[in-house]
Amino acid sequence: MTQPLTILGIAGSLRKASFNRYALAAARQLAPEGVTVETFDIAPIPLYNQDEDANPPAAVTELKARVKAADAVLFATPEYNYSIPGVLKNAIDWASRPYGDSAWDSKPVAVMGASPGAFGTARAQYHLRQCFVFLNMYQLNRPEVMIGSAPSKFDAQGNLTDETSRKLIRQLLEGLAAWTRRLQQG
Ligand SMILES: Cc1cc2nc3c(=O)[nH]c(=O)nc-3n(C[C@H](O)[C@H](O)[C@H](O)COP(=O)(O)O)c2cc1C
Repeated sequence: MTQPLTILGIAGSLRKASFNRYALAAARQLAPEGVTVETFDIAPIPLYNQDEDANPPAAVTELKARVKAADAVLFATPEYNYSIPGVLKNAIDWASRPYGDSAWDSKPVAVMGASPGAFGTARAQYHLRQCFVFLNMYQLNRPEVMIGSAPSKFDAQGNLTDETSRKLIRQLLEGLAAWTRRLQQG
């Protein structure tokens, strides 16, 4: 029997009809047996202020607890101006502090993203992967899940209808689960 795993999904968009939120919803459905994908909404997190490190807002305390409790993290990032949205970086920064108490440290992590553009957030994903290095997160390299031309891949209700993207997300989750179990075995 393999150990059940919990993956915490975080979308880098606050938009209700966000393709990246929809992609995470698809990941919840596509999770392999023994894997549960939960989500955390970063909308209530205020702007980072280092003066508040010792007394963070409740939403940040909750984010840190949820990340620490999860076996792994899955980011679904939009691409803003060839990088990750400020709201996502802001949440990452909060949960990395105070120095010495980062929630991200040693966490297995995977990334995916959806965009109406052709490159499916490729550039943003590489900026996010750079953050993982300093955060000492253990990133899954493959598959790279870049959902380009997103409006043609989701239906009006936000369901991911594109079979190739569904297959890639399934492979991403299987890969993240295997990677997490390998790291947990030491
Ligand atoms: C400020 C801003 C900058 C953007 N820059 C890019 C970009 O560099 N590359 C890209 O593919 N799309 C860009 N877009 C379009 C987003 O990919 C699109 O709004 C997408 O739907 C956002 O993700 P979401 O649906 O999860 O909210 C940008 C959108 C905004 C609002």
